Amino acid sequence: MRSRRSLFSLQGWRDLVSDSMAIDIGSTSVIIAVRGQGVVVDEPAVVAVNKLSGEAVAVGREAHEMLGRESRDVSLVYPLVDGVVADFERTQKMLDQFVRRARSGISHFSRRAVMSVLSGITQVEQRALLAAAESAHIGRVYMVEEGLAAAIGAGVSVEDKNASAVVDIGGGTTNVAVVARGMIVYAQAERVGSLDIDDAIVNRLRRHHGLIIGAPTAETLKKELGSAVEPQSPARSLSVKGRDVQTGAPRAVDVSSEEVCVAADGVVKRISRVVNRALGELQPEVASDLYDRGLILTGGGALLDGMADFLSRETNLSARMPEDPRYAIVNGLSQLFDEPLLLRRVARNEQSHLLDETAGAFE
Ligand SMILES: Nc1ncnc2c1ncn2[C@@H]1O[C@H](COP(=O)(O)OP(=O)(O)OP(=O)(O)O)[C@@H](O)[C@H]1O
Ligand SMILES: [Mg+2]
Repeated sequence: MRSRRSLFSLQGWRDLVSDSMAIDIGSTSVIIAVRGQGVVVDEPAVVAVNKLSGEAVAVGREAHEMLGRESRDVSLVYPLVDGVVADFERTQKMLDQFVRRARSGISHFSRRAVMSVLSGITQVEQRALLAAAESAHIGRVYMVEEGLAAAIGAGVSVEDKNASAVVDIGGGTTNVAVVARGMIVYAQAERVGSLDIDDAIVNRLRRHHGLIIGAPTAETLKKELGSAVEPQSPARSLSVKGRDVQTGAPRAVDVSSEEVCVAADGVVKRISRVVNRALGELQPEVASDLYDRGLILTGGGALLDGMADFLSRETNLSARMPEDPRYAIVNGLSQLFDEPLLLRRVARNEQSHLLDETAGAFE
């Protein structure tokens, strides 16, 4: 009888709280997957803030739609910069909103979340992220290194004793991680990412065309015309509009694919240098594994046309991408729900969290 009652109460608890979540919070986007449902939130990591009151007036897509056209009293804040919390209060607000959106039905509490953290962040930076997540009414938050999550999400087995290398190119960061046996062998994150290409495009248009364009326009040019290798149709162009540097009046210019590639070139080369530097620091056995297996590319920046070919050429290794490279991390985090022992082994939380016996009570 006692055990039946406790079973019922366990069921009651299950109904009240929603299930486990995987959260990949980045410099440009926040992606949340819920166990059994897949990705339920994929939104820009931005908060629109009223300058006078300091209140958040919109979060995510709604805030992003204001970008470049925000009203006088509103400023847009990206709470994470280069993968770390730059604005604690807004990170908290943003996570709270997204976690609410990810929850189904009437539940207002989640049992567990597995969250990715960039390699090399300090304890203080990690604690800030953890505190922000805990304030979003999540029972327990496990922090897992981004590189390991990306590898698992890209199909690397945690049993595999040979090394695999994952290069995650995000908005603000490029993270090179080597994993074997479900553990990180090497990880290095650098502050260069796909957003730097947008900046380079903005600068190029200002210098060569005397035109100031907004960040969304630069991103469109990158996605539509950008390439890390020789573009297939260099003359293909788009007409973009902006403000004349001299007169301040609205103006349009045609920008070719070739020109976008020239602008992107410096950043793409910096990314390849990050990868080559990392490869130069590996142990010989690891290098030999990678010679056979090549690189796995993840993150939105990997979607730049020709990126895999370029990195392959620069490193003399093959390079492949999983089906959806932007979701590799969140997919890897989700798989850890089903591996509670592995999750405990790889979680980067401080001891007090790992020793908590209730952590696995609802597996
Ligand atoms: N098709 C595409 N071509 C080129 N770039 C793309 C494409 N799709 C997305 N991106 C770029 O990928 C970046 C976002 O990638 P991602 O979502 O992995 O970043 P993030 O996780 O938020 O950043 P970080 O990991 O650095 O904190 C953006 O700069 C976006 O412009
Ligand atoms: Mg990322």
